[in-house]
Amino acid sequence: MLLDLAARRRVLFCGGKGGVGKTSIASATALARARAGRRVLVVSTDPAHNLGHLWQRTVGDDVVRLAEGVPAHDDGTPAGYLDGVEVDPERTTAAHLTAVRATLRRLMPEHLGGEVDRHLDLARDAPGMHEAAVLERVADLVEVGLTRYDLVVFDTAPSGHTARLLSLPETMGAWTDGLLRRRDRSERFGAAAQMLGGRGEAEAGRDAEIRSVLTRRRDRFALLREVLTDPARSAFVAVLAAERLPVLETVELVAQLEKLQVPVGGLVVNKRSPAGAGPLLDARRATEAEHLATLGDRLGHLPLDEVPLLPDDLVGPEALARLATYL
Ligand SMILES: Nc1ncnc2c1ncn2[C@@H]1O[C@H](COP(=O)(O)OP(=O)(O)O)[C@@H](O)[C@H]1O
Ligand SMILES: [Mg+2]
Repeated sequence: MLLDLAARRRVLFCGGKGGVGKTSIASATALARARAGRRVLVVSTDPAHNLGHLWQRTVGDDVVRLAEGVPAHDDGTPAGYLDGVEVDPERTTAAHLTAVRATLRRLMPEHLGGEVDRHLDLARDAPGMHEAAVLERVADLVEVGLTRYDLVVFDTAPSGHTARLLSLPETMGAWTDGLLRRRDRSERFGAAAQMLGGRGEAEAGRDAEIRSVLTRRRDRFALLREVLTDPARSAFVAVLAAERLPVLETVELVAQLEKLQVPVGGLVVNKRSPAGAGPLLDARRATEAEHLATLGDRLGHLPLDEVPLLPDDLVGPEALARLATYL
């Protein structure tokens, strides 16, 4: 299911609890598409990153090449490739604040510079700041993905966090819209004041600049929201174990996503106990079947992949390629 879905979408989100196999499933899917000749980017937004571990190399906040496609085209250009990046919330927040600081400093009267600095130093640790910064980065990577890649696979943070993140574009868009409306009023007032000789050119120019900064930001969130809710371009895939709590949480997550109009493409039940592998695993398998029945009752309309518990550690491209055979 998942590989077919990946072939028909531009952006995939893999979400679920920590340890269920999000990074493995996201990487296996991304690698399979790269090997099918596509340009693919895998992005980890989970603060507990493990892309690097899986690929046995350092992956950081800058995009790195994880795999070249095989075979190469005749003219020497690689057939497909896989790039990866782990979004670092600290660095993303710092970069975000630096950009905001530069803008504000340019836009505010000079004597308020110290005020701007104090305000932003406090903002660094304000609730929601990391999320807002990470979201801005996600929006950016979606934009980059749509122009430079055929597919972007997001390996996201655990469920609750992701749903909140996905609801943010709307909140941020509304917030920016509110600011823009206030600027509208103050610009009208400003134009009137200018006619009466009360305002300089510089102030009018500053208004226009603030407006353009806010508009760019709003457009970026609008694009993210548009892509996230477009079933032709993107899908969310919930990864879970066939256990009681994960099943209940997945039902909840899917309801939340549907409320946000984010299309859910399917479910991946990972680490399923194999049949005929001794009494312990047989018993586990029977228990899992009960939980899967609950899942079927509630989310039977969604396509589902089952991936067995595999004997070896999933590390490196060959292990991921084997994992992909179940998707
Ligand atoms: N089907 C599987 N069989 C065996 N081990 C698996 C399977 N899927 C994932 N794992 C292992 O489980 C651990 C957690 O997987 P990972 O993809 O890092 O989860 P997450 O990103 O959701 O935290 C890793 O050690 C991984 O190798
Ligand atoms: Mg992970």
